[in-house]
Amino acid sequence: MPKPRTIGVFDSGVGGLSVAQAIEKALPLDRVIFKNDAEHVPYGSRTAAEILPLILPIFEAFIADGCEAIVVACNTVSTTLIDELRARFDVPLIAMEPMIKPAVQLTSTKVIAVCATPTTLTSPRYAALKQQYANGITVIEPDCSDWSALIENSQLNKAQIAQQLEPALAAGADVIVLGCTHYHWIEQDILALIGDKATVLQPEPAVISQLIRVLGQQS
Ligand code: DGL
Repeated sequence: MPKPRTIGVFDSGVGGLSVAQAIEKALPLDRVIFKNDAEHVPYGSRTAAEILPLILPIFEAFIADGCEAIVVACNTVSTTLIDELRARFDVPLIAMEPMIKPAVQLTSTKVIAVCATPTTLTSPRYAALKQQYANGITVIEPDCSDWSALIENSQLNKAQIAQQLEPALAAGADVIVLGCTHYHWIEQDILALIGDKATVLQPEPAVISQLIRVLGQQS
C-alpha cells in the first residue's frame, strides 16, 4: 500500500472547504488538512500587506503538520501573495487564480464575466492575466464585493446573484468565471439562473490535476 500523503488546503473561510472536499474525493487514500482564518474572514477587501501576517502562522502550522503540498484555495491570496509564500515555504504551493485563458478560449461572443473579490480584481497578477490572454475581449466584472461575507453566513440569495449576473448576460457574456472559491458553493444557483446562456468555469478539476502531478513528482 502506498503511504498516505498529507495535503494542506487553505482559504480565508468556507470557500476552501469545497476544494478540500473535492480533493478528498479525488485522493481518498491521502490525508487532507483544511485550515481557514475564521477570525479574519473575509479577506476579499483586505490588502496583501494586511493578509500576509494573518496567513504566515497558518502556513507554518501546515509545515509542522508535515504537508507535502499546500493548495492555496483562495484566489485573493494566490493573486497577491503567492510569490512571497513560495519564497518563504519550501513545499510546493498550488495556486488558484481566475481562469481567464480558458474563458477566452471558450467564448464565442467575446464577452466574459469574472466574479471575484475586489482585492483579486485589483491585483497586478489579475491585470497581467487579462493583458496576456484577454486582448480584444470584453471582461465584465460584476460587483461581488459582499458575496464572500454573505456566503460565509449562508445569506446570499438568488435575487442578489441575479442582480449582478443578469446585466452581464444581457451584455452578451457567455462564460462566467468563478474567481473566488466561496462562489463554488453557489455554482448550482448560478447554473439555474443562466440556463444555457453561458458556461461556468471554476478551477477545482484543474487544481486537482496539478496537485496529482506535483505529488507524483515528489514520490
Ligand atoms: N475564497 C477566497 C477567494 O477565493 C476569499 C474570499 C474572501 O475571504 O473574501 O478569493
